Parts: sequence; C-alpha cells; structure tokens
Amino acid sequence: MDRPRHLVSAADVDRCLLDDLFVLARAMEEVVRSRGSSDDLHGRVLATLFYEPSTRTRFSFEVAMMRLGGGVVGAENAREHSSGAKGETLEDTTRIVGSYADGIVVRHYEEGAAARMAAVAEVPIINAGDGSHEHPTQALLDLYTIERELGRVDGLRMALVGDLAHGRTVHSLCHMLTLYRDVRLYLVSPAATRMRSDVLEVLSSRGVAYQEVDELAAIAGEVDVLYQTRVQKERFASLDAYRRARGRYVIDRALMARLGPHAIVLHPLPRVDEISPEVDADPRAAYFRQARNGLFVRMALLTTLLAVE
Ligand code: CP
Repeated sequence: MDRPRHLVSAADVDRCLLDDLFVLARAMEEVVRSRGSSDDLHGRVLATLFYEPSTRTRFSFEVAMMRLGGGVVGAENAREHSSGAKGETLEDTTRIVGSYADGIVVRHYEEGAAARMAAVAEVPIINAGDGSHEHPTQALLDLYTIERELGRVDGLRMALVGDLAHGRTVHSLCHMLTLYRDVRLYLVSPAATRMRSDVLEVLSSRGVAYQEVDELAAIAGEVDVLYQTRVQKERFASLDAYRRARGRYVIDRALMARLGPHAIVLHPLPRVDEISPEVDADPRAAYFRQARNGLFVRMALLTTLLAVE
C-alpha cells in the first residue's frame, strides 16, 4: 500500500505503516524527554475542527504540532464557532480551512464526515472521531501502548468491554487488529450494546477469532489486555435506554484479582464509573500511560503526513 494522504479510517493503514509510525513514535518520546521539541514541522500549520467535545485528542494533536515546531489554529466548538452554524457546508469549510492550513484534524458528530472532507480537501484530513463510526488515531495509540507494555501484539488475547455498538475506538481497533497474527478477541457486552455487524464481518473475513460473551469475570483470567470502554450516553436514543445499558461491567479490585499478573487494563478515556479509582495505583492499570502515548503517536503521524518531502 502507498503511504495514505489522509487518515480517515483504520482501513487507510497497513502493517508496514503501523510499524514505521511506532518506530517514529519511540523517537518522538526521546525528543520530548531530551529536548522538549524539534523543528521538524517548522513553518507548517495544523487546523483543528472539533464539532464534538474532546480533552485528549485535541490537546495531544495541538501539543504534538507545537512540539514539532509548527503552528496551530482551531475551533474547539466548531458546531457553534465556525460558519457551519450559519449553514456553510462541511465541504466548503474544508476548502476554506485547507486553503489556509497544511492539514486538518476533525472530530464530527456525523459518521462519514471525515471521508466527505477528504473527498474535496487539498490537504491531509485526519479523522479524530466521526460519530459512532471510527477513531483511527486512538487505535494507533492503543496498539502502540500494547507494544510498549507487552512487547508485541501478535498472539495476544484481548477483551473489548462495554459499549461495543457506539464506541468508535473499538471499531477502529478491531480493523487494525486484523493486521496482526493470531489475535483472539472476547467481545464483552450486554445485548443492547453488541459489536456492530459490519465490524464483525471484517473480523470474520480476515480470520480473526472472536467470541461474544456477556460475563466479564468468567474470562478476565484468560486475557493479556482488558480494554474497557465508556457507555456512550450521548449516542443513545433515550435516557432510559442508556440507563438500562450502563453499570454492567465495573473494573474494581475484585475484578483485578482475577486478571493475570502480566495483563494490562486500557481505556480510551474519559471514564465515568466503569473503572474504579481504586484501580489507578495498580501497575497493570495502563490507561494514563496510554493517554500520554497519544502525544508521541500523533507527533509521528503529523510528521508522516505533513512534512515537506
Ligand atoms: N479518547 C478520546 O478520544 O478522548 P477525548 O474525547 O478526550 O478526545
């Protein structure tokens, strides 16, 4: 596969690109540790358009660009503070912002929004989450974290837990896991938030072994990676439907006692109540290290997509 111009979907990456990005991300860790910043993207400008809330993704992209010596312009509440609020189409916004900046990071409430932008953009489009669909840069940092923590992804057993219907991070992660060998998945959710059928079809067609289960405690001792997710209140049709789906799986001390000594707990964050704070001090709780890794992975991605040849 040629190097992609945009990162709209997990389908835009292959194993070679993942491996290259992760080598570069390790180098970025060293840049930040030793010097704080570089001038790899000096003179380049990144635009961030966030039509939905964010802490990790927006801050880490913006800080990544600054630590690479570039500049950032952005709308943190683009739904109200861009001319989309006056009726401008996403396509026109893309054309205009792309005529000022060298790349655009977008988070949008509609599935397919980043793909619509990429279809008209003159500059790279990076999908920072489109509705319940995908969040490919989160999957990049998830895989980087697994490699950093456990030394490999091939051959691991993972449980993806919680809101698998609406959680865009697990959709992108499942796509990217098909690029690795002998991964086995437990998909742990109540019936109301089962994994989307299109994602299950991707797993099946690419030979990834998975099992849908509804008891977390029964399989916790089997896994190398326990990937917890938040039940996405904002995606449910009613508050009642959300209330019925939430609170089923909580990672607490009792659950951690069932987990292997080598296993890690990940979460894309933010969490609400699905991981008890009492777990945070456990060395197997890797979710804050995971969030930190987002900075290095996004530095690697920006360098790959925005650097002038
Ligand atoms: N993981 C993630 O996308 O976090 P934010 O919503 O804070 O960006």
